[in-house]
Order: sequence, then structure tokens, then C-alpha cells
Amino acid sequence: MTNTAPSTADAHSAPGAGDFAARAHQIAKVYGRGDAQVIALDSVTVGIPRGRFTAIMGPSGSGKSTLMHCMAGLDSVDSGQVFIGDTELTGLKDKQLTRLRRDKIGFIFQAFNLVPTLTALENITLPMDIAGRKADNAWLDTVIDTVGLRPRLKHRPSELSGGQQQRVACARALASRPEIIFADEPTGNLDSRSGAEVLGFLRDSVRRMGQTIVMVTHDPSAAAYADQVLFLSDGQIVDTMTSPTAERVLERMKGFETGGRPAAPGAQEPGVAAR
Ligand SMILES: Nc1ncnc2c1ncn2[C@@H]1O[C@H](COP(=O)(O)OP(=O)(O)O)[C@@H](O)[C@H]1O
Ligand SMILES: [Mg+2]
Repeated sequence: MTNTAPSTADAHSAPGAGDFAARAHQIAKVYGRGDAQVIALDSVTVGIPRGRFTAIMGPSGSGKSTLMHCMAGLDSVDSGQVFIGDTELTGLKDKQLTRLRRDKIGFIFQAFNLVPTLTALENITLPMDIAGRKADNAWLDTVIDTVGLRPRLKHRPSELSGGQQQRVACARALASRPEIIFADEPTGNLDSRSGAEVLGFLRDSVRRMGQTIVMVTHDPSAAAYADQVLFLSDGQIVDTMTSPTAERVLERMKGFETGGRPAAPGAQEPGVAAR
């Protein structure tokens, strides 16, 4: 990792270039019609730098999950373009999209989504087994040791703690060395200690293995593990922060509680304390 990683602003000027693992160009997503219409994404342009840990923060309903789902090809956009690496995802046929997701994207969800009848190891290799691909055993060993699952490989999910289950899900996402991993509130179901373990592991996989990770979270202390934070408000990216700390992220988030747009410094009401 270097200090010359492209900033998200570069995505505006050079939508066809740059060292981005994923890019969105002016994507829009509207749910519902008429009075019930919600603009979930309002012309979002963003690049996710390769080999870095990016957090997406914002108030509830600001469009975080929608952005992640659209960038990962789990949901369609109404307009705009999404790229994973050099491949434009928007416009792909279902079959091609399924293959691209399988080959290039890893997912970690709040609910661990493990198969209860399979062991930890079987869960980790399941996506590759389905794809008919052989695991790279040396890499698999590295991943298993990094997440500290070696003594638990033969256990089923019900025999593992929540933190261990999420580490299985992390190992599963990393096992095929995807171009990019998307994680939506990965620590949402974990106690703070297990959450810290998982976040530390995600950060290490970026620093040591060069993995690219995008994590949606509403938790400033989780965002502090990232290299950069993108702030969403009302379906737009309104700010970015590099080398975040929990305190600075929390301070920044307070500005959103006054009505969706960042407030001027000092304009916050004293009573509007962040939880
Ligand atoms: N399937 C859906 N149908 C209708 N509205 C939706 C749907 N999914 C999300 N929304 C709306 O879009 C906005 C953004 O939602 P979401 O991306 O889930 O926000 P976040 O993850 O930041 O909480 C919200 O107002 C939400 O109610
Ligand atoms: Mg969400």
C-alpha cells in the first residue's frame, strides 16, 4: 500500500481509468412511485481504490446498503454504470452477472449465512466447490491461520460462537482471492470483542494480503479500522475522510443529524449527542 492511492475524486475525472477495484458512475436508484417514491441513490460517482479498506458511513436510510448492493451486482441501477475492475457490470445478462459475482466478488453479511449442515472448512470452500474450482491449498492455509480457525475446522456453525461464525464467513469470502469483498454491517450481530477481532482481521487482510474491502457500517469505531471513509447522506456522497479515527467519524456524523446535510461547524445543537 502506498500513499499515492487514488482518491475517490479521481473517479469523477477519469471514469475509465485509475486503480480502482470497483467504480460507480452517476448511478441512480429510485424505489416506489408517486408519494411513496424514495431516491435511494442520487447520481453517485465513486471509485473504490484497490488494496485498501473503505468504509461507507451514513445515517440509517441514507442509501448505504443500496449502494453496496448496486456495486456488487445484487441489485440493478435505474441509470449510470458500475464496473468491477475493467468489466462493466451494468448491462450484463443474468448468467454473466452470476459468473462475475462468483468469480470476482466476496460477500460478508450481518447474518453470517453459513450452511448449518456443513463444517467450518466445508463452508469456507463451498463457493469454490460450487464453481468447480480447486482451492489453492497454500492460500487456504494462510487464510485459515489468519482468522485463527485451525482448531475449529471440523465444527458445524451451531458449535461455534458468533465471532467464530463470522470469521468462517470472512475466510469464505477471502478463500478465492476475489477482486473485491463487500461487507454489510459485518459486526452488527457481534459483541464488541468479537466485532473487534473480525474488524482487525479484515484490516489485516488488506494490509498483509492486499485484499480490497468495502464495508458498510453505521458504527464510528468500526469505520475507524478503514483506510478511508465515504459519507453518504440522502443518497449522495457528501464527504470523505482518510485515516479516520472513531472520534473524528463520530464528530462528522453529528453533522448529519440536523437534517441530512452536514451542518456548519458549531451549528449542532448541544442536545444532539451521538449515541
Ligand atoms: N426494497 C425497497 N423498497 C422500497 N424502499 C427501499 C427498499 N430498499 C431501500 N429502500 C429505501 O431506500 C432508502 C435507502 O435504504 P438503504 O440503502 O437500505 O439505507 P441504509 O443501508 O443506509 O440504511 C431508504 O429510504 C429505504 O427505506
Ligand atoms: Mg443498510
